[in-house]
Order: sequence, then C-alpha cells, then structure tokens
Amino acid sequence: MTSINEQLTQQFSQALVKAFGDKFNEIDPQVWPARDPKNGDYQVNIALSLAKQLGQPPRAIAQTIIDNLPLNNMIETPTIGGPGFINIKIQATYLETQLKTWQNDLRLGVEKSAKIQKIIVDFSSPNIAKEMHVGHLRSTIIGDSIARILEFLGHQVLRLNHVGDWGTQFGMLIAYLREVYPDALTTANVLNIGDLVTFYKQAKQRFDEDEIFKETARNEVVKLQAGNQESRHAWQLLCEQSRREFQLIYDRLDIQLTERGESFYNQFLEDVIKQLKEKKILEENQGAQCVFLEGFINKDGDPLPLIVQKSDGGYNYATTDLAALNYRIQTDEAERIIYVTDAGQANHFAQVFQVGKKAGILTEKVEIIHVPFGLVKGEDGKKLKTRSGEIIKLKDLLDEAVSYARQDLENRLELEERKESQTFIAHVSEIVGISAVKYADLSQNRISDYIFSYDKMLALQGNTAPYMLYAYARVQSISREGNIDFEKLGENAQIILKDETEIDLAKYLLQLTDVIKEVERTLLPNRLCDYLYELSKKFNRFYENCPVLKSEEPVKTSRLLLSDLTARTIKLGLSLLGISILERM
Ligand code: ARG
Repeated sequence: MTSINEQLTQQFSQALVKAFGDKFNEIDPQVWPARDPKNGDYQVNIALSLAKQLGQPPRAIAQTIIDNLPLNNMIETPTIGGPGFINIKIQATYLETQLKTWQNDLRLGVEKSAKIQKIIVDFSSPNIAKEMHVGHLRSTIIGDSIARILEFLGHQVLRLNHVGDWGTQFGMLIAYLREVYPDALTTANVLNIGDLVTFYKQAKQRFDEDEIFKETARNEVVKLQAGNQESRHAWQLLCEQSRREFQLIYDRLDIQLTERGESFYNQFLEDVIKQLKEKKILEENQGAQCVFLEGFINKDGDPLPLIVQKSDGGYNYATTDLAALNYRIQTDEAERIIYVTDAGQANHFAQVFQVGKKAGILTEKVEIIHVPFGLVKGEDGKKLKTRSGEIIKLKDLLDEAVSYARQDLENRLELEERKESQTFIAHVSEIVGISAVKYADLSQNRISDYIFSYDKMLALQGNTAPYMLYAYARVQSISREGNIDFEKLGENAQIILKDETEIDLAKYLLQLTDVIKEVERTLLPNRLCDYLYELSKKFNRFYENCPVLKSEEPVKTSRLLLSDLTARTIKLGLSLLGISILERM
C-alpha cells in the first residue's frame, strides 16, 4: 500500500496538471501532516508558492486545485485556510478499509522499496587486540538498526565489519607473544592468553621501555608483511582470540556481521597507488605519497594532503579505505555505501571520498554516506569510565544494565506479590537490560553526544525500552483477554472508528510507512523510536476513553483488532531497532 502521504501527493500532482497544464507535472505539491489537528490531518502548501508564477491570489489557486482533484473516497472536501493552505481531513471509512487490509499483512502496509539497491553498511568495526569501546557499541547498535530497516525495505544489504586487523601494532604484539609464550607460535592452534587488552597494554609497555624490543617489534612487522609463515600464524592466533571475544558481544546483542577486515585489502594497496599515479594526482611531500585536497587546509592556511603512503613505504587507514571503496564498487557492485562511525572521523571520510572521486574509483552511480554519531558521556558529562577511571569493558557495561534490570524486576515482583521462576527472571532481565542499552542509544538523535545513564534508560516511564516493552505486553494482554484468534477472524470482522481517540490512533497507525521511509532517507532511527513512543501514548488515550472488552459487538471485535494492530506495529518497529519483545514481563 502506498502511504496516505504518497497517495495525496499523487492526487494533488494530477490536479495540478489538470488545472494548469503538463508543465506542472514535476512540481511537488508539498503535502505535510498538519501541525494542528484542528486544521485537519494534512496540509498542502503549493498554492502559496505558485502565486507569483501564475499571477493569481493563492486562495484562488487553492480553489482551482481542489476543483480539479480526482474523485475519491479518501478525503473529505478540502477547506482553504489562512492565505491559501489547503486543509485535508481523511475520511474515517477510508481509515477503516485501509487498516482492515493489515489484518493478514505481516508487513503492516509497508511496501518494499520501488528501487531495490545493493547496499553496504560498514559498522561496528572494532580493532583487534584493542578495546571494543562504547564508540564501537554505538556503531554496532545504530548500524544494525539501519541495516535491519534497509533489509526490511527489500534492499540487498551486506553488513561489513571493517575490523582493524592490520598495522604496525602487530609487530609489537607478536614480539611480545614470542617472549612470554615461546611455545604458542609453534604448537598452539588456539591461543589462551587471557584478556587481550591487558596483553596489549603489557606489550605496549615493553615497547615504550626497551629499545631492543622496539627493534625486534619492527622486524616482526616486516616479517609479517613479507608473509613469513610463523609471523602470519601468530597474527592469526591473535585475531582469532579477539574475534572470539567480539563474537560474545555480537551474540548477546543479536548482531549479524560479515568480517572483512583491513588485512583483506592488503593485496590491493599497491594498485591504489598505481591508480592515483595514473590519474596524475599523486604527489610527493616530505617523502610521503599524497593527494592534495580541495577545501582542507592546515593551520597555516596551506592545502592539506591526504597521505596514502608513508615515507617508510607503509600504507595507512586511508589507503585501505580507498582499496575497500574500489572493491565494494567493482566486486560487490554496491550502489549505496554507508559508514557508521563517530563524528570524529568525518574529515577522514570526506577526504577519502574526495580522493575516491578524483581517482575515478567512486562514480556518480554510487551514493556514499558517512553516518556520524556523537560521543557517549558519563553522568558527570565526561568520558564514560569505571569508578576507578578505567575504560569500561562492553561486557561489564551490558552485565550492569542486566543486573539493574534484574533488581527492578525483583522489586516489582515483590510489590505485586508475584512469584516467577528463575528462568523467567533471568530471561526478562537480559532482554530488558540489553534493550535498554540499545534503545537509549537509538532514541537519541545520533548526531548529538549522549549521556549514558542506567537510571534513565531503565525507567519505566518516558521514551525508554522498558516503557515500550511494557506497552507492548499490556496491549497484548488486552488482546489475549479478548480471546480472539485474529488469524481466523476472516473477512467479516470490521474496523469501526467512531470515538475521536480511536480515529486518532488509526490515523497514526497508518503513518508507519512514512516513518520507515523517512528513516530510509535520513538514516535517523530515533524517528522510529519517537513514532513508537507516540503510538503507545495514543493507544493509552484510546484505551482510557474506549471500553474494549466491555463493549458490545461489533465494536468489541473492532477495538480488539485495533489493539492487535497496535501491538503488531510496536513489535515490528522494535524488531527494526534490533529489540525483541516480551509477551509478559
Ligand atoms: N576500526 C575503525 C575504528 O575503530 C573503524 C572503521 C570504520 N570503517 C572504515 N571503513 N573505515 O575507529
């Protein structure tokens, strides 16, 4: 089903052509949801912007447009407000028939995209042997939700984990591994050296303190890059250990990713340099190979170069991203590439994209987007840390959220004098805790920094996961009490909209399509959170005003259907945010 907004746009486009001729074919009639419900449901503003061109007063233009609208049973006769706004009210009977079509529609009226694309979402992307920190958590949660929404709209999404698994740090790690676990390199197939981050810190300390060790580490890098078998094995063992730790987090967060780390592009880096040379955009600057950029200057006002090969011959983050870009466009045939990282990397991507264009790697046909997000801060407004000042481990952060959720649940059970099994308590706490972390992140406009607060994210009131999960469980319990098998209801069941609050709820349900399409365009999942929150508030108003179970038929069934559609909308919406629902909590 095309959304109401889209249908109105079509109808008004037709009216424009009919009234003023073919050249008005391309003009957007500017249909918006009305700000003030007193003026109706939608507003069309095109008459005002056409006044000059047509040399007529906007109100007269508005009237001509209305007179030329195709006949339809969707809207009531529009009225003209103020200087020439067209006010539109959707007919209740139209809402009734539209919602009725949802009864057997798992997609709740959301059509797949008209233009299916191959899309790459590059997200999560932590670095081997370094901490997977809250920034990576944000990337993981936001990237996953964006991928889910695009997949739901029918796109072919490749979820890529561009892990930092290559680089000079491995020289140091391998040299240290040789020192402390000399046997590991020749015998082990699985490394068990405990916490890799601690291992990294110790290696770094050795590196900083000891000149001889430093030299050994440098030699290890050379050996690794030259493909020495033993070095390669050591590198693999280290990556494998990191991978296992990352996977625990992904499993817990229900994240699917294809790993294609920096090392994968190693074989293509030389070609990148060749390509830049051929395009004659490569220049030498203080021994390094670079491409000078437009629109980027250093503090002295001189043009800034993007270094693609260091003076020692080594390649860097940018070279790898250029090689990745090439591979993704040529081999993966991506039509849209989305990078989800912190806003701090905005310049890096702008520079890589610019060089990509100049080099002919990035063509017009490909849409490329950096999706930036702000910092995560503690409640003191500073960088998020543990009480003792250490970086917070993601596992501990998730554990803590779950443990708070558990406390909340146990308190509630005691208050309500409810007895539940340990399995139930464990399951509910896990879902609530993880969902709270995800939802808190997604419900913020991602561009802004956000304050990480267990109290806020776990509150039962407000735009939080527990509120949404609770709203779902409550709506479901109403449907359950009604004891109707919705699937078997068949054609005879009707939706009847009479009360103001139920009409309002119905209209809002039908906006789901618009919201999801908006997120497809803007890549701002917080719009979906806002929608779901507003939806549950509208449901509450409906439920306060309209008896459901105590109504006579056919109103009772109609209202149960409306409740069921609300529950299904919340469930679908949450699933697109990567959040699973609870039937009872
Ligand atoms: N590993 C990087 C980091 O931790 C993020 C990689 C993002 N993706 C990319 N293609 N550069 O900051």
